[in-house]
Amino acid sequence: MRKKIVAGNWKMNQGLQQGLWLTSEIINMIKDEVSTPVLTVIIPPFIHLNSIRQLLSGSKNIYLGAQNCSEHKSGAYTGEISANMLKTVGVQFILVGHSERRAYQKETEEILSEKILRCIEEDLTPIYCVGETLEQREAGDYKSVIKQQLVGALSGLNADQMMQVVIAYEPVWAIGTGKTASPEQAQEVHAFARGVVNDLFGNEVAEFIPILYGGSVNNANADKLFEQADIDGGLVGGASLKSREFVNIIKAR
Ligand code: PGA
Repeated sequence: MRKKIVAGNWKMNQGLQQGLWLTSEIINMIKDEVSTPVLTVIIPPFIHLNSIRQLLSGSKNIYLGAQNCSEHKSGAYTGEISANMLKTVGVQFILVGHSERRAYQKETEEILSEKILRCIEEDLTPIYCVGETLEQREAGDYKSVIKQQLVGALSGLNADQMMQVVIAYEPVWAIGTGKTASPEQAQEVHAFARGVVNDLFGNEVAEFIPILYGGSVNNANADKLFEQADIDGGLVGGASLKSREFVNIIKAR
């Protein structure tokens, strides 16, 4: 049985007080309502990490994540934050290669492979995001895009290192658009991605690592998505800012 993970990516939203309220509501609802061993990850903006860590202390199965880290270990990189620094404030998961960063910060697979290594060196879990654009899907190219993103950033790892990685498939055309991939469309890519991992690292690794789906996941569509054989949970954006909806997604099967 693979781990089931539901991660909430707040992106650039929530002031400190709002973020603390949201987190408290999520903690309380999970305590009262969630009995299955789902691993929840809250991924707020950097500046809230330490305060949210304090709220989370003692709550079971809720972890802290960061939205990015530097590809460098330390040094003269003004404005950057290292994986090691994130670890010191209790972070256990780090998003790497979100499509917004690939697009706006021009992050390449070469840079992303370094970020993944920085996470692994600190014993943190990178959530490595891949996904095709609408044009790539319409051109029928999506599998080669996914393969290139996976191979480009992961092929330098060994099998032990790869065991520490979580993959998130997030079709760019489904992010923040309200247009979710159908369960069948998502399952097809998840199975394909697991096959790529199998070719690179073997069956044991491929069967072990969780592959999350992201892109307009909500209350209404989570059940059908999470039922798919190769979908091991979700990376949730907009719906993670509403406690009721986010916890319902955590409760989806
Ligand atoms: P969304 O975002 O759920 O708002 O589509 C998902 C993500 O970008 O991680």
